[in-house]
Amino acid sequence: MKSRHQTIRRWPRIALWLALLLLPTLALAEVKPHAAGIASANKQATEAGFEILAQGGNAFDAAVAVSAALAVVEPESSGLGGGGFFLLHRASDGKAVFVDAREKAPLAASRDMYLDADGNAQRALSVNGALAAGIPGLPAGLVLVAERYGKLPLKQSLAPAIRLARKGYIWSAKNAAMIGFRTEQLAKSEGAAALFLRKGKPPAKGDRIFNPDIAKVLERIAGEGHRGFYDGKTARTLVEGVKAAGGIWSLDDLAQYQAVEREPLRFQFQGEEILTSPPPSSGGVALVGLFQILSGYPLAEFDRVQRLHVEIEAMRRVYRDRAIYLGDPDFVQMPMQMLLSPYYAAGLRASIHTRKATPSDALPGISAGPEGSDTSHFSIIDSEGNIAAVTQSVNLPFGAAFVVPGTGFVLNNEMDDFSVKPGVPNAFGLIGDDANAIEPGKRPLSSMTPTILLGKDRVAAIGSPGGSRIITMVFLGLSKVLAGSSAAEAVSAPRIHHQYQPDSVSVEPGALSEAEISALTERGYTVAPAERPWGNMQVVIWNKQDRSVDAASDPRWEGVGGGESRDREMIFR
Ligand code: GLY
Repeated sequence: MKSRHQTIRRWPRIALWLALLLLPTLALAEVKPHAAGIASANKQATEAGFEILAQGGNAFDAAVAVSAALAVVEPESSGLGGGGFFLLHRASDGKAVFVDAREKAPLAASRDMYLDADGNAQRALSVNGALAAGIPGLPAGLVLVAERYGKLPLKQSLAPAIRLARKGYIWSAKNAAMIGFRTEQLAKSEGAAALFLRKGKPPAKGDRIFNPDIAKVLERIAGEGHRGFYDGKTARTLVEGVKAAGGIWSLDDLAQYQAVEREPLRFQFQGEEILTSPPPSSGGVALVGLFQILSGYPLAEFDRVQRLHVEIEAMRRVYRDRAIYLGDPDFVQMPMQMLLSPYYAAGLRASIHTRKATPSDALPGISAGPEGSDTSHFSIIDSEGNIAAVTQSVNLPFGAAFVVPGTGFVLNNEMDDFSVKPGVPNAFGLIGDDANAIEPGKRPLSSMTPTILLGKDRVAAIGSPGGSRIITMVFLGLSKVLAGSSAAEAVSAPRIHHQYQPDSVSVEPGALSEAEISALTERGYTVAPAERPWGNMQVVIWNKQDRSVDAASDPRWEGVGGGESRDREMIFR
């Protein structure tokens, strides 16, 4: 038997072993946030997320709740008739996944389906009505995220959205503004008119809106999972309604739809790790290109105009590549190794004049088609450190402005995100756009760019709606976060944008001073001041030093969005 004396002598060694054993646990405990943060485009959706966290759900359950609530309360931007991307990072094992719930072209779709007999694009057909709609992906995304990553039953996570639909939600200033753009078209769809118009007029801000039809569809998904939408009554109603209105959906389209898990893109900037969206998003590839081009410059030494110069030139180049190379990875071979390579970025950097704008025409390529701008992003970090960055869309405001009667949701018009007329030689005789041509079962290229920063001191989830401008918004917002800005500073920062063609720099009101605009003009830029601001960015940041969580919603829709962090005591009260 060991003497008491021996044990005392060994005590320092035992303590050392205990400390070593406990160290990983202590380290993990240390890095958990004190609070949880949610930022979404609508307060009612943010509240749905906190409700689910309070019931013991994780960030992924809360993402299902927020996503479904947005489908009810923000029908102009996203919903069950649309699609989305869920970028998730799990704290327990560091697993990162990109859930691709993007819409797919119907199996009866064809490359020239929106061209008239003379080969001209008939944009009205790819934008309005049943023929414009791809097969929805969001319901499949909700089910996949809940089943594979959530802690709670899907039924529980969908409950707040079902309640909002049945007991009513408040029509916001944003709902009221956006319906103004689509009232005429919504009036042409019997289902849309019944859902959104009262004697032909849209609701007023502050009205309570009831949507028992979408509640029934959500209840079917809650009860039956994936089959609740893609099979049975919902599927039959949708297919019959789409066909009756001139669309080409079949029951097979719905039966075959699956959300897909993809590997997120990972890259480093200034030693910080960033996770972002792979194809069929174009955003991540462009974001990697932007940061890689900029990483070769001594940015800290640049004045504001010089920094703007290199940023705009980088934007010009990555948008050109986006239009030439990117599409659905299940259909097209993309030169990903090249596009993501620092050597390729160095080549692009070398083509940037130190002080002069490069005319886009001097970089032959093709321009991307117009892209819809109404989409919704939300960001969540829970108190375990799980992260969800989610962007979802129906494309234009109220999507195709078409509702199958009795379903309670608009169908998307994401078919317009394909190149409706690919392969047409441009001014330089280049043929391109094939990567994003319409093919049966293919996903249209998207700009949605949910992104996660896994920094040493700061972790963040970021994203925004805004069509082709999403990518430059995420780039500018993330640059602010990397520079130490708060969530509120990141979402409110002024925005500029260049997308190769048109060859001009869009500038938000007040984003640049007169002197900066003159300096850019002298360098050869066409500066195009925009009449209105754009975007609706939602950011959550977890500061690891003090374990605080900071959430903010874009002030451009002040009073509508919900960006909030709540400490544990407040959540579990
Ligand atoms: N419909 C907008 C986007 O996916 O980029």
